[in-house]
Amino acid sequence: MTQPHPLNEEGRALVERLLRDMTLSEKAGQMTQPEKNSVKQGDVTRLSLGSVLSGGGGNPDPNTPHAWREMVGAYLHEARSSRLGIPLLYGVDAVHGHNNVVGTTIFPHNIALGATRDADLVRRIGRATALEVAATNVRWNFAPAVSMPHDLRWGRTYEGYGQDPQLVSELASAYVQGLRGAAWNDPTAVLPSVKHFIADGHTSWGSSTRVDRNALDVDRTLAIAQMGEGFMELLDQGAWQLDQGDSRIDEATLRAVHLPPYRAAIEAGALNVMASFSSWNGLKMHGHRYLLTDVLKGELGFEGFVVSDWEAIDQLHPGDYHRCVADAINAGVDMVMVPFDYEKFIGTLVAAVQCGDVTQERIDDAVRRILTAKVVLGLFDIPETDPALLNVVGCAEHRALAREAVRKSLVLLRNEGNVLPLSDNTPTVLVAGSAADDMGAQCGGWTITWMGGHGPITPGTSILEGFQRALPGRVNYSADGQVDARYPVGIAVVAEEPYAEGMGDRAELRLDAQQLRMLARVREQCDRLVVVLLSGRPLIITDELPQWDAFVAAWLPGTEGDGVTDVLLGRAPFTGTLSVDWPRTHADLPRTDASASLWDLGAGITTVRTAAD
Ligand code: GLC
Repeated sequence: MTQPHPLNEEGRALVERLLRDMTLSEKAGQMTQPEKNSVKQGDVTRLSLGSVLSGGGGNPDPNTPHAWREMVGAYLHEARSSRLGIPLLYGVDAVHGHNNVVGTTIFPHNIALGATRDADLVRRIGRATALEVAATNVRWNFAPAVSMPHDLRWGRTYEGYGQDPQLVSELASAYVQGLRGAAWNDPTAVLPSVKHFIADGHTSWGSSTRVDRNALDVDRTLAIAQMGEGFMELLDQGAWQLDQGDSRIDEATLRAVHLPPYRAAIEAGALNVMASFSSWNGLKMHGHRYLLTDVLKGELGFEGFVVSDWEAIDQLHPGDYHRCVADAINAGVDMVMVPFDYEKFIGTLVAAVQCGDVTQERIDDAVRRILTAKVVLGLFDIPETDPALLNVVGCAEHRALAREAVRKSLVLLRNEGNVLPLSDNTPTVLVAGSAADDMGAQCGGWTITWMGGHGPITPGTSILEGFQRALPGRVNYSADGQVDARYPVGIAVVAEEPYAEGMGDRAELRLDAQQLRMLARVREQCDRLVVVLLSGRPLIITDELPQWDAFVAAWLPGTEGDGVTDVLLGRAPFTGTLSVDWPRTHADLPRTDASASLWDLGAGITTVRTAAD
């Protein structure tokens, strides 16, 4: 399949002129993306670095939109001062809004957007996200993840839209269109990174070799998570058993399940793809020439550039960095995310070319692809965005959009006696559970920090605040469910602990004992019990469910918790449906033909009022 080349003649002439003018070292610099905490002042200019990124939590201090704009602007300025003045592309993970930045609109994570099945909504979210990202001078977003989670024990399940390739393709295409807006060279357009190529969500349990318990003291990436002694406990619970593992599937399955969203996103104009840490039948994706070059660039006609994931090339041949670099570049990686030792990478790549392990043609192809994206984005003409955009960061309009997304993402899965929606004249409502008043719990991972956190991590409306605003004077709250009075209705909010990536791989998907105790207390004191779950994936709740009159999957809704209140109080209908299967027992994980679902993909009770109501 051939895509129309994204550049006109003038743009192509600029790229070819630069290629002729650039030294080998400058070309290697363009192929390098360090993390901002590693970059020494002046090195963007000196080494002609092509990109800098903020990893999860790579924030300035203070962490404000203005400080972000200043921080990024300094790198852009350094790039313009390099010998050829090639503009720099700054990259962030804005996977559910500009989520590293305090004060931005945090949208529901992708699994929730999958439950809306609303491509126009996802496009509008992409557009709003692009505006808030561009406000901070950032023009590259490592999103959308088009991961198709096969084993829901995976810590990245919530980053994908779901398990239906057609739905994921539609939403990925819509999000890319949203990031683009009117045109790629509009200064509010943001380059998407479709990730992680390919079959990142199909790995087998126990196949990941990411974590070496005996080498934790030298693992700089895991140190960023600052997990402390809790890390060993997470490893015992299954952390890093799936993520970055091996996808043992045949090519027909890989093509049928995992390829369609990439085709759709490329047809929508995406000019960057991020390679996956994972392997396919034992061969690391970062060294997979057939898939990265023959399939992605050849068969799909991808004219953009492939970026590696974080230090991922180092995993190809541990201890032999020269081979890591040569094999990754020869496989089709065009830009390398080198969070720490970026000069070592540049020197190794130059040496690999000089000794013939990497050809000059391959280097020119990689740099041509990178420069093409920068020309398409108009970076040579408008190197910085309009500072007036800072006014839209976290604005009422974007928060209203996020609230709409929350409403449309809720999935009602049990509603005995039609207890929901609650009637407006319910005398007093008990809201229970610490998660009901915890911004961190409702945002989940990839929020302000890589792993996310608890408490007021960023401005927003908790579910409790939503109820208090809607029912002034008629809401009682108990974090642990210990109450003396009886209530006609109790709304108990439970949640998963926030997590990101392999840190969230779990052998068991269940509510913790403390929350189960809270639920038991509320059950005792209420005539009707409504349970709202904040989670990045289905949990095994089969045994507890009969005790609940109603059950709502709220996923990870983000900052606008009043979207939950809107629907539970009947101000908007339940319309969400599952974008993943909901397993009945742990024995049904991962999915097989024999797996039993509690609810199938597509399930969800709607409460749209018909004319007959
Ligand atoms: C992470 C993730 C990837 C992210 C990148 C930069 O390890 O795998 O999704 O975009 O590093 O933060």
